[in-house]
Amino acid sequence: MNLYKRLLTYVKPYMFQVVVALGCIILAAAANLYVPWIIKDVIDDVLTAKDMTMLNIIAGGIIIVFLLRGVFFYGQTYLMAFVGQRVIIDIREALYRHLQRLSLSYFETRRTGAIMSYITNDVAALQSALVESVIEMVTEAFILVGSIIAMFVLHWKLSLLTFTTLPLVFQAINIFGRKLRSAGTVMQERAADITSVLQETVLAVRVIKSFVREDYEIERFGRENYHNFRAQMKSSQLMATLTPLIEFLAAIGVTVIIWYGGREVINGNLTSGALIAFLIYVVNLTNPVKRLSRVYGNVQKALAAAQRVFDVLDTRPDIEDMPGATDLPPISGEVSFNNVSFEYKPGEPALVDISLTARPGQMVAIVGPSGAGKTTIANLIPRFYDPTAGTITIDGTDIKTVTLASLRRQIGIVPQETMLFNGTVYENILYGDLGASREAVIAAAKAANADNFIMEMSQGYETQIGERGAKLSGGQRQRIAIARAILKNPSVLILDEATSALDTESEALVQEALDKLMVGRTSFVIAHRLSTVQRADVILVMERGRIVETGSHAALVNTGGLYSKLYQIQFDSRPEAPAKEV
Ligand SMILES: Nc1ncnc2c1ncn2[C@@H]1O[C@H](COP(=O)(O)OP(=O)(O)OP(=O)(O)O)[C@@H](O)[C@H]1O
Ligand SMILES: [Mg+2]
Repeated sequence: MNLYKRLLTYVKPYMFQVVVALGCIILAAAANLYVPWIIKDVIDDVLTAKDMTMLNIIAGGIIIVFLLRGVFFYGQTYLMAFVGQRVIIDIREALYRHLQRLSLSYFETRRTGAIMSYITNDVAALQSALVESVIEMVTEAFILVGSIIAMFVLHWKLSLLTFTTLPLVFQAINIFGRKLRSAGTVMQERAADITSVLQETVLAVRVIKSFVREDYEIERFGRENYHNFRAQMKSSQLMATLTPLIEFLAAIGVTVIIWYGGREVINGNLTSGALIAFLIYVVNLTNPVKRLSRVYGNVQKALAAAQRVFDVLDTRPDIEDMPGATDLPPISGEVSFNNVSFEYKPGEPALVDISLTARPGQMVAIVGPSGAGKTTIANLIPRFYDPTAGTITIDGTDIKTVTLASLRRQIGIVPQETMLFNGTVYENILYGDLGASREAVIAAAKAANADNFIMEMSQGYETQIGERGAKLSGGQRQRIAIARAILKNPSVLILDEATSALDTESEALVQEALDKLMVGRTSFVIAHRLSTVQRADVILVMERGRIVETGSHAALVNTGGLYSKLYQIQFDSRPEAPAKEV
């Protein structure tokens, strides 16, 4: 019921259309309800009484009733579809808007397919509940009540007899409805499983092919597919059982009526027309009951979907502006970590007691073995995650106290795995500053040493780069990502392995671009190749979530710690492999 109330809040803006639609639904249903009564009149007043005038009146009446019914039917269908579609658009947009606000951790703990299924399958399920179910529910409820009244008017004893079977029918609907609801949930989940496997395997097609895991994936998909089949069949089986059961109960009722009603006609207590009209009402009655039970099933499915949609809407982002957060004024770029600890999963520390200060314009390099926590440090600065202990300040202001937008606007990130959007080169660079001029975009591309290869492509800046930039090489993608960051003109710059996918020559080109980019900005440079970090003002050496050494290149090499060891390994292997990774 609460779910319904909440859904109704989305319907509210379209109340006018809903009211008119309901009027149409009721009038169309009333026309249906009138048909048995016409038949009664035909039999009793025309055929039995052999009245020609009455015949003409009734014939005209039938045509008018059906004409009006058509008009109302159009009204109900069009208006309900309108309201349903509008509500769905609103809900889908609200859902998407909310997803955009949710924190990284939300997306990391869920499968992409499941999230996609909320917006596609679940919202579609809601649509059918709102449009078809409402029309059917109102129509059938009206016909149900109208038929019952008509029956009592025709012969109340016969009606009472008929309705002794009804409680049985309702009981059956109740039991099966509950089962259908849970079957509906399982069905939606299985559908999401399929989408999820599909999504993952399409994305990972290279991995699958390189490991020759096609058969393995086919089998895995087959399994999910079969589970889906089972869930669908369970639901269909319940449907298949429910329908004949109700029909059988209805048939028993009809037999009783024919037997008792026939006696009443023979005894002269009931006209033949009235008995036939009564029977038609009873048959009409099985329709609403049957349809209402189907609607009930659909509504249960939709409510399960609504529940999932609202669960998403009710999820609070882990990271959001605290009440009273102010905008971070333009910064000079002093970044401090004060005893910062962090864990992605409770009990598994990724950063332990990190303290560091980067003064405005400084270049801070972070090096260390894979998994040491370098990217994690970078993640905390734009508040992709909040530290579990300690504080991070920029220009002395705790970043938790400022608005996310004002903080992130001033931070540029070239991540370890660059993500580009399907679109043109130009659009992808423009993403860094949507208001930038064409000249600024080209200047950024030049600064990132990307202009050359862009101009060599057939359509230059208008070249479509494919989904996730698939039509570009890794190094080209990275240079576009750098151009995008340059265009943003941030005061704090984070480069996470920004040159790792490049050969030595393009690395030199990109490095040159980055050097220009870093001037006057506080930059955090994460790199495996120590050659790129030698010029850093400070080098932080990380191991297992801790900073184990700090200092300039020269100082660190002299102390003979982890850094000097790493440096020695790379230095020694330089002749044959200039960029051995640590
Ligand atoms: N989103 C996440 N959820 C849970 N654990 C994570 C997540 N990201 C990283 N970790 C864990 O945190 C630790 C530090 O990871 P991080 O990505 O910071 O390493 P890194 O130093 O950047 O390594 P690399 O050089 O390979 O990029 C690792 O043990 C990793 O497994
Ligand atoms: Mg990393």
